Amino acid sequence: MKKIIALASFLIMGGLIILASCKKDELNNNRTNPPVTSNDSTLKLSPFPWGAALNINTLKNNAKYASTVVKEMQSVTAENAMKMGALSTGRGQYKWEDADDLVNFAQTYNLRIHGHALVWYKQSGTSMPAWVIHFSGTKEEWKQIMKEHITAVVTRYKGKVTSWDVVNEAIKDDGTFRPASECIWTKNIGVPEYIDWAFQCAHEADPDALLFYNDFGHEYSSAKRTGVNNLVAGMKQRGVPIHGIGMQMHTGIHRNVNDIRTAITTAASTGLLVHISELDIKVNNELAQGITFTEDLAQKQSYHYQMVSKFMKDIPEKQCFGITMWGVHDSSSWLHSNPDWPLLFDNDFERKPAYYGAVKGFQ
Ligand code: XIL
Repeated sequence: MKKIIALASFLIMGGLIILASCKKDELNNNRTNPPVTSNDSTLKLSPFPWGAALNINTLKNNAKYASTVVKEMQSVTAENAMKMGALSTGRGQYKWEDADDLVNFAQTYNLRIHGHALVWYKQSGTSMPAWVIHFSGTKEEWKQIMKEHITAVVTRYKGKVTSWDVVNEAIKDDGTFRPASECIWTKNIGVPEYIDWAFQCAHEADPDALLFYNDFGHEYSSAKRTGVNNLVAGMKQRGVPIHGIGMQMHTGIHRNVNDIRTAITTAASTGLLVHISELDIKVNNELAQGITFTEDLAQKQSYHYQMVSKFMKDIPEKQCFGITMWGVHDSSSWLHSNPDWPLLFDNDFERKPAYYGAVKGFQ
């Protein structure tokens, strides 16, 4: 019964999407700057997939949001719905609805699914459930609860989710592992042991899934880049299954693009897959209040998008896993209230100069 309801709601959503995209084409035909024809300037012409992190409520309630994803994206990530604290309500207890909805949507529209994130140190919001924060046990018991979680989630979506961020943010900006005082996994299992263990458990649950180590800061910290490359070199040496590096890349126009290039080429030097996994390009890093999104800022942002896209295209194609935007349109960005306008589509889902920059970059 549940399945039938889910299917029916996606069929309705599908209808809305077709309607919305017809309307959108009319709108596009009226645009003067720059003109969009049926086969130019689309992200789908990219040699690597572009994707977006999705908010499930917005996906269900905003047809334009859903139609933009279907029209422009080839890959999706749950912004929050697959985090441990969103999924697990108690040991062995799960609420799957939101994650299932995302997976059903992606399968209906033939979108690749990237899973995010199996193990994370963070304890706020949906990052980690209270029962884990308050768990006490031996090292073996901690390894066991981690394994149970990874096995439950990866098994449920086996064959549907292509790839996983297995461990998120284990390394600090100075290149050292997040210590026991910051990370309960380091405290109770040890590092890099907990990282190796997480990857082994994920691989055991789905031997075909591509497994990523995901982190931020590669574009501003050379120590972080070194720390990440040392970690993956060690994992390979220890025979731990790892297939890719995720660079979150929450960046901005204040960054020098050469540093972004160095981040991408350094990750590629490992020979692993490279995923820009959470891209947004801020224009208001200073959190200035009362500013507006001017044409000048839009052009600067467009240039940064162009460069990120180009630098990805420049690495060997077989290592290029894709670029995932951390949100769809500006008003759905986690940074929107800064205020900021960090994404490819504006508040009305119109393509921004950023979009055309991204397209120019891979052409
Ligand atoms: C963020 C989400 O975008 C927010 O909605 C949530 O409140 C907090 O988490 N690094 C990550 C992402 O790996 O999971 C974070 O997502 C952003 C930083």
